[in-house]
Amino acid sequence: MKKKIHDKTFVPFLGAADIQQAVSRMAAQINKDYQGKSPLCIAILNGSFMFAADLFKQLEIDASISFIKLASYKGMHSTGNVVTAIGLETTMSGRDIILIEDIVDTGKTLHAFLPQIMDHQPASLKICSLLHKKEATVYPIKIDYLGFEIPNLFVVGYGLDYDGLGRNLSQIMQLES
Ligand code: IMP
Repeated sequence: MKKKIHDKTFVPFLGAADIQQAVSRMAAQINKDYQGKSPLCIAILNGSFMFAADLFKQLEIDASISFIKLASYKGMHSTGNVVTAIGLETTMSGRDIILIEDIVDTGKTLHAFLPQIMDHQPASLKICSLLHKKEATVYPIKIDYLGFEIPNLFVVGYGLDYDGLGRNLSQIMQLES
């Protein structure tokens, strides 16, 4: 079913079951890779809150989680204004960090933010993103755990918004073309 959000119409793209399947697959890989370790997951708000919660529930290792906020997206195009991270732990030194993102679009956000994490000298740093718009890449980012490669179309749902709305959908919808 189509959905109108503000002035735009969105159509179904990834169903809730497909998303949960991808989340389980990613969690299983993390459980395997971090056996005997205690990684610190850092979820980037707001968009990743739902994904981070579902993923974290499926981790069987001794994992911790912390939430940070970076400058976000206004409307349908990345503003590119990345501000300082709010809520960043200072105890990242020597930790195995897993950064949890909802979507990597141009890569600008992570490109700007990754050096800030590296300054804290973590033992390791891996990126986990539910979605990746490969065609939109400006700054290539190595994504270690990826849910879906998607076309360069604006999406909403499962935490992702269009001007504040649409985050509550359990599916992901894309802009009607
Ligand atoms: P990047 O810096 O261009 O990689 O953009 C990353 C951020 O832009 C994500 O964390 C999202 O908050 C936002 N974003 C990018 N594409 C979309 C989209 O299709 N829908 C909603 N938010 C998006």
